[in-house]
Amino acid sequence: MPRSLLLLLLLAVVFLPTHHASVDFTRQPPRPLVYTYHDGPESHPQQVHVSLVGKQYMKISWVTEERNVASIVNYGKIPGKYDSSATGNSTSYHYFLYTSGEIHHVTIGPLDPATIYYYRCGGSGPEFNFQTPPVNFSIEFVVVGDLGQTEWTSSTLEHINASNYDVLLLPGDLSYADTQQPLWDSFGRLVQPYASRRPWMVTQGNHEQEIFPIIYPKGFKAYNARWPMPYEESGSNSNLYYSFDVVGTHIIMLGSYTDFSVDSDQYKWLMNDLAKVDRSLTPWLIVLLHAPWYNSNMAHQGEGESMRLAMEKMLYDSGVDMVFAGHVHAYERFTRVYANNAAPCGPIYITIGDGGNREGLAMAYKEPSPSISLFREASFGHGRLRIINETHAHWSWHRNDDSASVVADGVWIECLSSLPSCGQIKGKVPKHDEL
Ligand SMILES: *[C@@H]1O[C@H](CO)[C@@H](O)[C@H](O)[C@H]1NC(C)=O
Ligand SMILES: *[C@@H]1O[C@H](CO)[C@@H](O)[C@H](O)[C@H]1NC(C)=O
Ligand SMILES: *[C@@H]1O[C@H](CO)[C@@H](O)[C@H](O)[C@H]1NC(C)=O
Ligand SMILES: *[C@@H]1O[C@H](CO)[C@@H](O)[C@H](O)[C@H]1NC(C)=O
Ligand SMILES: [Fe+2]
Repeated sequence: MPRSLLLLLLLAVVFLPTHHASVDFTRQPPRPLVYTYHDGPESHPQQVHVSLVGKQYMKISWVTEERNVASIVNYGKIPGKYDSSATGNSTSYHYFLYTSGEIHHVTIGPLDPATIYYYRCGGSGPEFNFQTPPVNFSIEFVVVGDLGQTEWTSSTLEHINASNYDVLLLPGDLSYADTQQPLWDSFGRLVQPYASRRPWMVTQGNHEQEIFPIIYPKGFKAYNARWPMPYEESGSNSNLYYSFDVVGTHIIMLGSYTDFSVDSDQYKWLMNDLAKVDRSLTPWLIVLLHAPWYNSNMAHQGEGESMRLAMEKMLYDSGVDMVFAGHVHAYERFTRVYANNAAPCGPIYITIGDGGNREGLAMAYKEPSPSISLFREASFGHGRLRIINETHAHWSWHRNDDSASVVADGVWIECLSSLPSCGQIKGKVPKHDEL
């Protein structure tokens, strides 16, 4: 058999949507895919996105179709006037018959906080700008998972952009390329207007895996090449789990699709990372992962259970404030929970897998609703976590009512490290009456 025919057969096997066949819930009709094109010269940047990399630094990532473009970023605080520059690296990857463009990553800084920087990638093409996060409270995070690239995605992104925020957190499932590599490029172009303006911090979902037996056994080829996160800076040896600090908040991105058992690298890394958290510097402690540990939707029941059994106690003992998950295409907010029961010093669990992907919504819920589930609804939308100060934050869920964005759920949250009653937390911020 000719080699190309064999490859086509292998690809056909990959494209069979096996995991859809068994689902027995009805989904609200998804909207069509939005495929975006690059309309500039081959040397011009496309798929530009930025991410935080250590204190005061930002990583700029972009793709060029032309190979011989320098990995250089020119930047400054005044449009068109670039008094600083930085050089980085470029890479590319193969996936069966597909060869990616040149993928550039350049770290720039040190940067001033809460400042708009104007920048140009590779010495040509349009100017972009981003805003750095502040150094002091308050700070606003957008949280949205399972984004995809449909018309629903577009409206979610417009709603996200319609009001100001500092950092976007994505708990997995980005492009839904599902081995069709050009869809990674299209996704990069779709999110560029947003991801080039604010740092996007992501972790992996099942749709990032793209594992193929024998040929790509470890998977994550496209994801790791295109969306490198600051894992080395946080002592991790894998792009699939890492942590970072921003304005009094320590954020841990866990990997639902890499080993998390007690003897795994991820588990050991998490243990070390949690031990280093100083709640007097970062009173807020937030975790993101893909497959939810608590979920009363019929979709994906039990898929997060083995990870919960391995890691929940560690998070509880550290006083994690909130755990965000995706995967289930709906919104659900739980009360503070530990070991399946309401617990005043446990994390608040939130499922926010409702960005707008092509698979549609997960409509069916377990009845009756468990008492620990406080709000659940199968609609597309996004969440916002506004951390006001070291003790208070406000969470809101913004549903996509067709093209309008409507606040459908909201709650004030008190930081666990500020609650004297939560004695399990080591290194917590002492309240004045405890001093
Ligand atoms: C990437 O860029 C840095 C900084 O320019 C350089 O030190 C390093 O050797 C490069 N790495 C590779 C793999 O080319
Ligand atoms: C941030 O807070 C510190 C401590 O209160 C203060 O010294 C500093 O001036 C603040 N920085 C900004 C940019 O507001
Ligand atoms: C995002 O919001 C900014 C600020 O309002 C605006 O300038 C920009 O055009 C918006 N981007 C898109 C793609 O709508
Ligand atoms: C923190 O913010 C909350 C809500 O706005 C406010 O009630 C509280 O007094 C603030 N605490 C401090 C220490 O500023
Ligand atoms: Fe998923």
